[in-house]
Parts: sequence; structure tokens; C-alpha cells
Amino acid sequence: MIEVGIDKIGFYTSNYYLDVVDLAKARNVDPNKYLIGIGQKKQAVINPTQDAVTMAANASINFLTEQDKQDIKMIIFGTETGVDNSKSAAVYLQNLLGINKSSKAFEIKQACYGATAGLQIACDYVRLHPDDKVLVVGSDIARYGIKTPGEITQGGGAVSMLVTANPEIIAINETSTFYSEDIMDFWRPIYSRNALVDGHYSNEIYLQFFQKTYHEYLQQTGKKIDDFAALLFHLPFTKMGIKGLKSILDEDSDEYKRLLEHFENARNFNANVGNLYTGSLYLSFLSLIANDHGLKTGDLIGFFSYGSGAQGEFFSGNIKNIDNDKYRLPIENMLSKRKKLSVAEYEKIYEITLPNDNSDFEFDISDDKARFVLTGRKNGHLVYEEQSDRML
Ligand code: HMG
Repeated sequence: MIEVGIDKIGFYTSNYYLDVVDLAKARNVDPNKYLIGIGQKKQAVINPTQDAVTMAANASINFLTEQDKQDIKMIIFGTETGVDNSKSAAVYLQNLLGINKSSKAFEIKQACYGATAGLQIACDYVRLHPDDKVLVVGSDIARYGIKTPGEITQGGGAVSMLVTANPEIIAINETSTFYSEDIMDFWRPIYSRNALVDGHYSNEIYLQFFQKTYHEYLQQTGKKIDDFAALLFHLPFTKMGIKGLKSILDEDSDEYKRLLEHFENARNFNANVGNLYTGSLYLSFLSLIANDHGLKTGDLIGFFSYGSGAQGEFFSGNIKNIDNDKYRLPIENMLSKRKKLSVAEYEKIYEITLPNDNSDFEFDISDDKARFVLTGRKNGHLVYEEQSDRML
């Protein structure tokens, strides 16, 4: 049977960050609550000149060849930070990246689950059309509001994946188990830029959905915990993955200790970026393949995807090729070049946005070195620009 999965993968986050110790001090919180209790170190602050579209383009541009752009037959854009209520971000992305116009381009929304829905659709499509490629992106800005309990779990960025037959990185297995239910744990009403959340309830539901889909997966496939080299989680904050592991394993067990070691590698990038919403699970996957020197070809990786509202899915994949440095070096380079903001600077940037009407507006793009930027709005159209000589 033909193998299908992730052939190429890229990541982008903006050039600003906030140190969570600075945030803790400003909010009169013990820094260990954020560092240990939440499991975060730095939080991406998204430059106003970046949106879901530009971040997705910046995440894709370094790995797509001209041949890939011709072979792509579908562009699936998972986001809950869409730039338009009607037109999909995928069509903007197609134009910015110069992807084949004889393709299907659309957006998927189900909170943080959108990119997983996209990945599964892409795999099914390529199983039927093995010569075609599908571009799947998850791109979001996680916002809860200044001085809210959710503030420490903000972040943002994009992960982009090329799904093909005979993939270079990981083959995704056909069986997956899923569960959905109408739950009010986290939502963002049409009128609001910030998410509303019932924080502790959302943690509970996340764990319930994980346990349900994980146990059903074991039942359907006959697999056992020791078949998995690593378990990956949607990471709204990295402590959530620890909670996930503890919910199925005794902390003193060898299996817990073994999986925790791999998880430490899998949370490295997420701890320095924060919640990406749709991209978080896949940033954790990137973090694993970039930082884990114990992985080998054939290893089985379990993925738990969760999107509030709520949808959960557990699936798995087998590692194809390992090349840690190929993924680690560019991301470390990008993260190390970010500019640290003071809390006051972050609070100021947080408020900058396009006016909430149809007026023309121009951003100052001088501080944004990314390849693709949002320069503003003219005659009701969003204006995107490619700055080819200023890449990060
Ligand atoms: P909170 O009430 O401020 O925090 O909100 P807390 O009091 O629960 O403390 C957090 C942890 O820090 C606790 O550990 C404390 O014990 C510990 P836990 O019991 O959880 O293991 N702690 C300390 N540790 C060390 N030293 C200290 C210290 N003090 C306390 N001094 C909450 C936390 C996560 C609820 C809040 O930030 C929030 O509402 N975040 C947003 C919601 C969220 O991320 N939910 C996650 C599940 S839902 C999901 O993943 C979907 C989502 O990504 C959206 C989507 O799908 O689109 C969010």
C-alpha cells in the first residue's frame, strides 16, 4: 500500500517576543507559576504587520520548490484568525506563493483542530491521487487580553506542511479515532479580537477528549503504550502535555519516564513561542524531530489534536528519515534573532490593528524583516508585500 504523509515542513513566528519572567513580575505573579506551572519561557508577540496569511506564506517559502508549486492540487488553510469572513486565506496564500491556479483552495475552522482536519483530508486525497501534492497550513494569533488568566498562554505563528506520497519525514497511518461535542470551553465571538475562555473547564475537557480518543485508538488498532516512541499533544501551554501523559500513566512508571524524556524535546520550541492554536501540535512535532536524537526510522509517533468547542482526534505516523539539524538550525536561528519587548512595548503593540471599518490604512513596516508583510489596506483590499531582500 502506498505511504502518504508529511514530506516537507516549515515554521514561522514573528520577530518580537516577551519574556514570561518579565510578564510575571508586571502581573505580581511568582515567575515559577509561568515557568513551571504553565511550562512557558517566552511568548511570541505578533507584529501588527503579520497576519494569518503572511505567517503562512513565511512558513512555506523556504521549502517549496517551483516543481512543488506546480504539483500542488489543494491548499488547505486551518485557522481561527481568518482575515475575511468570506474569502479564504488559502486564496491569498496561493497568490503570494505563486502556486498553481488549477488547485482547490479553502479554509477550515474548528479552533485548534483546523490543521489536523486539513492534514487528514490531504492524506485521503493523496491516497487517491498519489502524483498530486497538498499544502496544509495552520496559522494563528492566540489572544486572550491583557491581564487575563489566559494572557500567559498567548503566542502565535504558522506551521506549513507539504503532504505527498512516499513522504520524506513521516508517513501518516490511516486509522484515527475522533470525538466531537458542543462544549463552551473556549470561543471567540464575531465581535471580538480576543478569545473568551472557561480556562479550568477547558483543561478538563481537553483531558477527557484525549483519554477517550487515545483508549479508543488502542482498542481499534491493538497497539499498546510501549509501541509509541513518543506521544505528541496540542500544546496551548507546554504543561498541558505533561497533564496528558499523567492522565494515562503512573508518574513512577518507566513508560512515563521514557515518554517524558521525548516530550521534553517535543515542547522545546513551543515553550519559546506560546500557543499557535492550529499549528501547535505540528510545532511540537517539529520540535521533536529537531531536538530528539533518540528517534529512528520506523518509530511510531502518537498525535493528539484538540480544538475547543470541541473536537479531539488521535492518530499516528511512522518516522521515515531523521535529520535533526536540518529542522533545528533554521528555527533556532529565527528564534534567536527575535527582539525582546518590555511589557509596556508589548501592551502598546497589542492594541495596534487595522481600523474596524473600510478605511485606507498604512502600517510602518520598517521593523519587520520577514519576506511577506501586511502593509495595510487600500480601497477595502488587504495589501500584502513581498520583500525579497529582507528575509529573517
Ligand atoms: P490560572 O487559574 O491562572 O492558573 O489559569 P492556576 O492557578 O490553575 O495555575 C496553573 C498551574 O500553575 C497549576 O498547576 C498550579 O499549581 C501551578 P496544575 O494544577 O495545572 O498542574 N502553580 C505553580 N507552579 C510552580 N510555582 C508556583 C505556582 N503557582 C501556581 N509558584 C489557565 C491557568 C491555563 C486555566 C489559564 O492560563 C487559561 O485560561 N488559559 C487559556 C485556556 C487554555 O489554554 N486551555 C487549555 C485547554 S483548551 C485548548 O487547548 C484549546 C485552545 O488551544 C484553544 C483552541 O482550541 O483554539 C486553548
